Parts: sequence; C-alpha cells; structure tokens
Amino acid sequence: MSTDTAPGRPGAGPRARAVPILSAESVEVAFTAGFAPGGGRGTARAVDGVHLDVAPGEIVALVGESGCGKTTLARTLLGLERPTRGRILFEGAPLRYRSRDLRSYRHRVQFVQQDPMGSLNPRRTVYESVVEGLRIHEGTAVDELERVERALSRAGLRPPERFLSRYPHELSGGQRQRVVIAGALVLDPEVLVADEPVASLDASVRGEILRLLLRLRDGLGLSALVATHDLGLAWNIADRVAVMYLGRVVELGTVEEVLSAPAHPYTRALLSVLPDSGLGEGPVLLSGEPPDPKQVPSGCRFHPRCPVLASGEAERAGVADRCVGVDPAILGGGAGHRVACHWAAADESGRVDEEAASNR
Ligand SMILES: Nc1ncnc2c1ncn2[C@@H]1O[C@H](COP(=O)(O)OP(=O)(O)OP(=O)(O)O)[C@@H](O)[C@H]1O
Ligand code: SF4
Ligand SMILES: [Mg+2]
Repeated sequence: MSTDTAPGRPGAGPRARAVPILSAESVEVAFTAGFAPGGGRGTARAVDGVHLDVAPGEIVALVGESGCGKTTLARTLLGLERPTRGRILFEGAPLRYRSRDLRSYRHRVQFVQQDPMGSLNPRRTVYESVVEGLRIHEGTAVDELERVERALSRAGLRPPERFLSRYPHELSGGQRQRVVIAGALVLDPEVLVADEPVASLDASVRGEILRLLLRLRDGLGLSALVATHDLGLAWNIADRVAVMYLGRVVELGTVEEVLSAPAHPYTRALLSVLPDSGLGEGPVLLSGEPPDPKQVPSGCRFHPRCPVLASGEAERAGVADRCVGVDPAILGGGAGHRVACHWAAADESGRVDEEAASNR
C-alpha cells in the first residue's frame, strides 16, 4: 500500500511492549442526544468499552469512519471529556479531574487539533499563540522567548525569529499547523494527542507534517495518539493501528498486521476501497444503514453491514448465530494482533488472539 503522503515507514519496534504511558481502560462515554425510539431522550454510546495503550515513544493511529468515536476517545484521553465508565491512566496512575490535576496533566499530554485556522486566534501573532500555553501553565517565565523559539524550531519553523511577529493569515496552511504543534511542544509534553492533524492541509504539505511528527517521536521520544479517517496516514506514521467501529476498537495490532493482513471484515472493507490495498479482492461496499451510536445493534455491532455474514461465509464457518446474538469480547489494549470477530477467530488459528468470546 502506498499513499501520496509517504514520508517513509517508521520501524514498529519494542515500544509497543513497554509499560504504557497513556491508557484507556474499559472507557465508555455516553451523551444524551436526540430522542429514544420509545420516547424520552436517547443515549449516544460514542465510546463503548475501549481499552487502548500508548507506549512511550509509540505512535498509535485510531482509524475508522466518521462518527465512530475517534474524537470523543481523543478528548477523553486528554481529560476534556469524563468517561461515563472506566478510566484514563497516565503512567499507570488514574487521571483525576480536579482542576489542578488536569492542569498538571495537560502539561504532559497536549492536544493538536484538526483545523489550524480554527485553533489559532487571527488577531494573535505566532509568539502570542505559542506562548499562551506556557503562561497558562507556568505564568510568565524568564526564558519565555527562548522556549517559544525552541518550540518553533522543533516544529520546523526556522529560523524561529522570522515567524514570531507574523499573524496566521501571513502563513501557509502547513506553517499554521506547525504553529499549532509548536504551541503543544512549548510545554515539553510527553504525549501528543492529534485529531486529524493533516485533514485540512493540501496533499503537498501533509507529508511534511507527518515527517515532523515522526521526527518528534524519534528525536524527543514523544508518544502520540493520532485520530484519523485516513488509512494512508496511519500506514505512514503509526507503529500500531486501532480500528474503531461504533464506539469499539474492533481490530488492533502493528501497522503491518492490521493494514497488510487485516482480519476483521470491517478493516478489510475499509482497505478494499483503496486503489493499492494489496488484498487481492475488489472493493467491498458496505450495505445497511450508517451506524448510529444511539442504536447499537445486538450481537456483533457490525453484523447488519457485515459482508462475511451476508455472503454466508459466517454461516459456513458455523458462527452466524454468534454474529447476531453474541457481542464479541472487548479487546485488550496492549501489544499483539487482536480482532473482535467470531468468524476471524474461528477462521484461522494462530493468526489472531482468541478474544472473540462472549461479551454478553
Ligand atoms: N457532545 C455530544 N453530544 C451528543 N453526541 C455527541 C457529542 N459528541 C459526539 N457525539 C456523537 O458521538 C459519536 C462519535 O462522535 P465523534 O466526533 O467522536 O466521531 P469521530 O469518529 O471523531 O467522527 P469524525 O471522523 O466525523 O470526526 C457521533 O455519533 C456524534 O454525533
Ligand atoms: S463477528 Fe460476524 S458479523 Fe461481526 S464482523 Fe465478524 S463475521 Fe461479521
Ligand atoms: Mg472526529
């Protein structure tokens, strides 16, 4: 698989086996939204039982269609949403939600948002934008200018003094995104949580920003969780990939495991529509209604749209009843190729962990 953004594959290594720096443990996030079928307010289960670990120096890509819960999970990892159930752990300790705890947490775990124009104040210079986080967290520091310049430089805006007094409209889209990244780096965080970090950029600058994220991982040992609907981006940047469907991680593993040898029918369908997926099968168009987190189907949540169930393959493998009646077990978040699918678990012994047991 290749993409227009290809900055070169990172080496997926032992990082994934280190003690996680950031974890979601059995996290659920529900919103009151719309109306329930029987009357009253509905509940959108935006994140519905997710375990996910990010190891030190590791980049994990969270991929899936629009509305599957990527942003909600990213915001929950940042402490911006509070889980309805489950918890967030930083270096093994549960995140606490008192404002002083959150302030010190945000020092170490920083957010890079999707839209640089939206996240930069048009009336603030680059200096004012980048220094803001520093002042919020540390007050006015004596070495403020030096730290802002170092952050700009690390974000690839060199020489930094050339950019300090510029306004967002005087910068290119790529430079604006670098300013946003500098604003995150100025606090010397250990983890970046990036939500669609290149979605609003031209193809020509997307590769540059991805290369920057890889350099930050390699040079500073930064960890990152990158939420994206773009599998090419995941391929280019991530050590591991988590595929999310309707609030759950349905497949998890290294980039090679998940994107070169996908086991979940949903991952296979997502990949099949890419021109050079290498799967050797034609595009699989998903049938059925787009998923609605207010009405999560029984059994496997993907079953109303699953091509393996629709084609009779699941029946032939003897798992069709389980597909419609038994919710596959929630996947563990650590290393190893895992898949939440009865058919995949029955299909090939040894290829994936047997995690598709009952989760009723
Ligand atoms: N504050 C909220 N109130 C009610 N529902 C919400 C809220 N935030 C998110 N949702 C719902 O939760 C689900 C997951 O949304 P989320 O934004 O996390 O998805 P996403 O994967 O980031 O999508 P996209 O790729 O479009 O950014 C959606 O159905 C969304 O409508
Ligand atoms: S468990 Fe069944 S319905 Fe769900 S993805 Fe696997 S084959 Fe399809
Ligand atoms: Mg989103």
